[in-house]
Amino acid sequence: MTEKAAARIAELSEQLHHHIYQYHVLNAPLITDAEYDALLRELQTLEARYPQFALADSPSQRVGSDLAVGFDKVRHPAPILSLANAFDEADLRSWEERNRRLLPAGASLGYVLQPKLDGLAIVLTYEDGVLTRAATRGNGEIGDDVTANVKTIPTVPLRIPVAADAAPAPSRLVARGEILFHKDSFAQLNREQQAQGLPAYINARNTASGSLKQKDSRETAKRQLSAYIYAVVASAGLELESEKQTLLLLRRLGFNVVSDASYCASLDEVIAQLPAWEARRDALPYEIDGLVLKVDDLAQARALGVVGKDPRGAIAYKFAAEEATTKLLGLTIGVGRSGKLTPTAQLEPVFIGGVTVSNASLHNYDQVAALDIRLGDRVVIKRSGDVIPYVIGPVSAARDGSETPILPPAHCPFCNTALIQPAGAVDVFCPNPRCSERVLRTLEFFVSRGAMDIEGMGPQTASALIAAGLIKDEADIFSLSAEPLLELEGFAEKKVQNLLASIAAAKARSFPQVLTSLGIDGIGATVAGLLAGAFASMQDLQATAAAIRQAEAHFADIVTPLLADAAADDPAAATLIARLQQPTAALAPRYLEAADLPARLQRLLRPLQLSAEAITALAAGLKPLIEASRPLHNIDGLGPVLVANIVAWFSDAHHKQVLAKLKAAGVTMRAEEKKQAGSVLQGATFVLTGSMSAPRAEVKALVEAHGGKVTSSVSKRTSYVVAGASPGSKAERATKLGIAIISEEQLRALITGD
Ligand code: IVH
Repeated sequence: MTEKAAARIAELSEQLHHHIYQYHVLNAPLITDAEYDALLRELQTLEARYPQFALADSPSQRVGSDLAVGFDKVRHPAPILSLANAFDEADLRSWEERNRRLLPAGASLGYVLQPKLDGLAIVLTYEDGVLTRAATRGNGEIGDDVTANVKTIPTVPLRIPVAADAAPAPSRLVARGEILFHKDSFAQLNREQQAQGLPAYINARNTASGSLKQKDSRETAKRQLSAYIYAVVASAGLELESEKQTLLLLRRLGFNVVSDASYCASLDEVIAQLPAWEARRDALPYEIDGLVLKVDDLAQARALGVVGKDPRGAIAYKFAAEEATTKLLGLTIGVGRSGKLTPTAQLEPVFIGGVTVSNASLHNYDQVAALDIRLGDRVVIKRSGDVIPYVIGPVSAARDGSETPILPPAHCPFCNTALIQPAGAVDVFCPNPRCSERVLRTLEFFVSRGAMDIEGMGPQTASALIAAGLIKDEADIFSLSAEPLLELEGFAEKKVQNLLASIAAAKARSFPQVLTSLGIDGIGATVAGLLAGAFASMQDLQATAAAIRQAEAHFADIVTPLLADAAADDPAAATLIARLQQPTAALAPRYLEAADLPARLQRLLRPLQLSAEAITALAAGLKPLIEASRPLHNIDGLGPVLVANIVAWFSDAHHKQVLAKLKAAGVTMRAEEKKQAGSVLQGATFVLTGSMSAPRAEVKALVEAHGGKVTSSVSKRTSYVVAGASPGSKAERATKLGIAIISEEQLRALITGD
């Protein structure tokens, strides 16, 4: 055992030395910070148990340092301390327990809780209110002078107080904070990199660090860095008593103070807030890797002192790491209903935040090319919240030359049809609507619950039917007969009977369900319901889509010659040209009520410098399109993109065939006559909340069948809130507004008049 420990200590030490060199000297880390921390922790634990094996040059003795050559060195006025880590509630409780033992018995401990920003520490010195120096943490005692670079960051005040009428700043103030990229600024930086054909940056924190260590501050200025300030390191003439007061003072002076800090009167209060913080993590504009918990009373914090480099009065509560590195072993390709190809990374299994990940999304081939991800690469994987894990990018520094480029296939891996990439699209598509994989995916959706809801048609059955050539599209299921099915392996009499019976029953599904099952992009049950409310039949909907398509074609005939020599390199013009090319989504909805269409178009299209005749022609061409699309655009809740999707779906030749087959098979093609069972609820508006004895949609239909209206939010116009079991905030709101809350039984009694 001890031999093993000695060997492991040696191995860890060597690995850590290597990673320190990669990170600090080469600025090319091979693993994530969390992976580095895990190695270091393992080493520290082993060294604590077996101190006799600790090497003289153990990396655990080396204080993290970000010192770089080429910068003047600055001695900090007080040590720039680090923080000990806690990983769970128990760690926090034992931290408080240890602290209590160092404080007078019964001392009350209050805390300030704030996000732990995943950036790099910065120390700002202000003399007589003027920023005179900015330094990195360095080794905690000596840092790099990066004043010129920091001065380019807009959130760092060059003079305090920022507001002329605020109380004056102390004659000397040394403040500490964090420099980082907001998530959107980092994404923007990467878009710019990609536009220039340069590799994307993988890690925001390292990139922020690199940005701050530029030799030329004009380079730093090009990066949109932000600074958040959270502590006072030293000052002249300030008597601060608490963390709370410190943050208030920093804010008053005009600093961008770490946001959402809160005071908690006890550790229990802190612990109660942890889940909400974890849930908020992804929604924050910057990356955080945990929370910082500080004893609020500065006298108490001072009394607690420092252990090593960590003040006892503060601790970092670390969230589970969301990123890890692993090896990209291979790729699998999926083809979806629409024909879209999705490459998925096959990974050497890696543990991220409590889950083993062995597949991750690569988004699309454009992204693979932009990030220059190669087979065999070490890659950084991110797994956060409910999002499917995805590949952030390659660790280029870890390449050994054996990696091979990834190219999109030229042909569909399932049906061998040549793939296409529509102009401007990032995705590659299989254009063959009869591709076995596309049919399988389409069928899976078609028979699913909420769509045609066909029992007994699981993925295996669907695959078997497609493989046997019995089904070439989703409509074919209605022409299945018993004999050929009975010949298939695993299809016994009973199974076949049941399957055919559930297929037959599906013909009577409601019109909205049939619309949903078509699988039009963005048209789920809710929108299908809206469509069915506005169009009595499939035929009406088809006719509208056809009329729109015809008007679009006519409009395109007018637009195309006009744009032949338009200046597409001007971005304003390019946007307008794109709009003219998608008139149903981008023009028609804007002008539904326009009385002066030519004048409006003239104003919109000014950057294109079109002649008066051209504008008149465009207006004349747009008018019929506006009229044709009005029935769709007028549906409340149906946005322009969905309208365009509907038109595209119904205009497709393959879809037309499928619809004809469905119709011939006797599938419902029109809305039911509105059966008005009664009008006792006429004029009353209901809001439903909590769980009821029947699905919400059924209760809604019941109310509507008796002339009532159901809306989703409680307002003054609501007549009744119907509360089922565990009602939500809607019931609370009703109480506030003084609106009657009734039970489901009371609703039924209103209808029956009991
Ligand atoms: S307080 C003695 N507050 O996390 C006070 N640090 O892992 C120590 N950090 O070196 C720092 N957000 O660079 C504090 N709200 C915050 C922070 C924060 C990020 C960094 C800081 C520190 C590191 C420790």
